[in-house]
Amino acid sequence: MTGRFLTLEGIDGAGKSTHLAGAVERLRARGLEVVLTREPGGSPLAEDLREWLLNRAMAPQTELLLMFAARADHLDQLIRPALARGAWVVCDRFTDSTLAYQGGGRGLDQALIRALAKTVHGDCEPDRTYYFDLDAETAERRRLASRDADRFEAEQRAFFDRVRGAYQAIAKEQPERVLTLDSAQSLAAVQARLYADLDDQMARYGG
Ligand code: TYD
Repeated sequence: MTGRFLTLEGIDGAGKSTHLAGAVERLRARGLEVVLTREPGGSPLAEDLREWLLNRAMAPQTELLLMFAARADHLDQLIRPALARGAWVVCDRFTDSTLAYQGGGRGLDQALIRALAKTVHGDCEPDRTYYFDLDAETAERRRLASRDADRFEAEQRAFFDRVRGAYQAIAKEQPERVLTLDSAQSLAAVQARLYADLDDQMARYGG
């Protein structure tokens, strides 16, 4: 028995977190076991690494390797066991975030990131990814209205333009996995599209 691995992606402020709880509710309402988790984090060790990643100054390469260190532990401790017993795992960010932020945003080598991804979780890739697409300016406005900035959120608009560009490239390259949701639309419209796709996933793979 294997479950299904769903991820949510997007630049900070694109609305991913807003839709997360509803998405999980919708899956649980059908009787599925759903494990909601996040990156960086999701296991005790990875949550400790998250504190460093979000708050301590470090070189881009250090950041990249800590992201994958956290991910390796998260996979071992939580994601693989959950999928093995048939649960649906909903993960707030995964390796697409690394390609977008450390690759696009920080300018690190995409091929290196893909090689690390293959080593750490070549056996375990997301089945479906919801990418909330929004321009950097609107996202910045939404962020400023809602919360204090961590180390990533404090980055400039040009950084988020690059992050978005990297996400859009992934979505274009892997359209069968990545569903792009236009976050400039109303919350209701985005939610309707997301829920329709979740229903489709459950109809196909929910048993
Ligand atoms: P997130 O959980 O979305 O932040 P918040 O809880 O404030 O909504 O993500 C934390 C930050 O980590 C986010 O700015 C993106 C960054 N990040 C990376 O740069 N690379 C990665 O691989 C991951 C998983 C996250």
